Amino acid sequence: MDKIKIIGGRPLTGQIRISGAKNAALPLMCASLLTNEPLILKNLPRLADVFTLGSVLSHLGVKTTYQGETVGNHQATFHAKGPILPEAPYDLVRKMRASVLVLGPLVARLGYAKVSLPGGCAIGTRPVDIHLKGLEALGAEITLEDGYVIAQAKNGLKGTKFSFPSITVTGTENILMAAVLAQGTTRLLNCAVEPEVTDLAHCLQAMGAKIEGIGTSVLTITGVSSLQGTIYSVLPDRIETGTYAMAAGITGGEIDLIGTDLDLIPTASQTLEMMGMSFKKTAQGFIAKGPSGRLQAAEIVTDPYPGFATDLQAQIMALACVAEGVSFITETIFENRFMHVPELARMGADITIKGNTAVIKGIQHLKGAPVMATDLRASVSLVLAALASSEETMVNRVYHLDRGYEELENKLSACGAIIERVREGSTHDISETAHTFKAAG
Ligand code: EPU
Repeated sequence: MDKIKIIGGRPLTGQIRISGAKNAALPLMCASLLTNEPLILKNLPRLADVFTLGSVLSHLGVKTTYQGETVGNHQATFHAKGPILPEAPYDLVRKMRASVLVLGPLVARLGYAKVSLPGGCAIGTRPVDIHLKGLEALGAEITLEDGYVIAQAKNGLKGTKFSFPSITVTGTENILMAAVLAQGTTRLLNCAVEPEVTDLAHCLQAMGAKIEGIGTSVLTITGVSSLQGTIYSVLPDRIETGTYAMAAGITGGEIDLIGTDLDLIPTASQTLEMMGMSFKKTAQGFIAKGPSGRLQAAEIVTDPYPGFATDLQAQIMALACVAEGVSFITETIFENRFMHVPELARMGADITIKGNTAVIKGIQHLKGAPVMATDLRASVSLVLAALASSEETMVNRVYHLDRGYEELENKLSACGAIIERVREGSTHDISETAHTFKAAG
């Protein structure tokens, strides 16, 4: 298994192009199932998750072609001309929870879908009961059989009023995609307002869907009988944006983030400013600048958008580890999202968990260590921590990072990081590179 070796302790300076958002790309790809015309997605990130969902869609009969090799220049065509299979098997769905996003579009288009239940994952049990309740409200008959959800709507889905009992991002996306082809009007209350949901709604509109209230928690959808293809550009990744902004913060550097927007991370940017960072908007994005001295401690509570994103919680914890003072980080979205804590502790961090709050006493310097994480955001928090330590850190299980960070090593090394992927069986030692850097001053 590949690893990433990092020797940190250097301020990162340079430019990073932010990729298209993973969590926008995945529902957008599934929206291709709603039409027999091609959907072309531009700014599609080249990520393991995108290709995994691409194979789920191919299995269902969607003709998929990818083009372009560079960040921001990658696009794909998804053409669900038909015939479309209604069944997504366990072997494909188990690789990625987001495959459950095929459920709404399949039942909307075919009146029948059989999709393997995704099961829990490293950050929590993550049920899909609300997705199923929403489909039931639209008139689908739901049965659970041998680990599969079977959704049937022989006479098509019918418009309804449905209030999400709690906020769910992919739940809102699934039900929205089902409602656009339902007969009559659907009113969805307490919807997630994450930018990725808004991006999906805009793409569906471009495909001919009738949706009002986009960007708010109440969506009103007037069903149409068919949708057309379109060309749509995926929104920039706000989690990648926040992660690289924090790379500038933790190393005391200055990174020019392009192809993104500071407004995508409202609460994170405010928090980082309170910790000592500064931001300046530019024509193409913004500049994130670390403090000249130490970062300051902070109190953070994760919340649905526009609150502090749970997907940035692990990363800001890395910053809190070296900040001056005691930080409190409360995770309210997932019940088991502190898997990075023992690994950060291996690097010398002083963290105590009290219920769903982590209490972090900032220390001056983190040590290098071999570390490993069990999910994507936890893994990247270890990369951030490693960038702050002048010793060598080896991050194991890099495949987590490949799920959600396009060209991570290239983007960071372009800003002066000493970071290298160690392929299985490779013997090259980057401490030599580090010595060269030191020798070069
Ligand atoms: N929930 C239920 N029942 C449901 C659906 C959700 O109880 O039917 C619970 C979840 O267990 C969780 C909470 O509701 O406790 C919120 O979960 P949500 O449904 O919003 O999460 P998700 O849609 O499965 C998306 C992102 C996650 C991100 C969360 C929260 C995608 C593909 N995934 O997941 O991204 O953490 O929203 O913002 O959009 C990541 O990218 O690393 C990642 C995990």
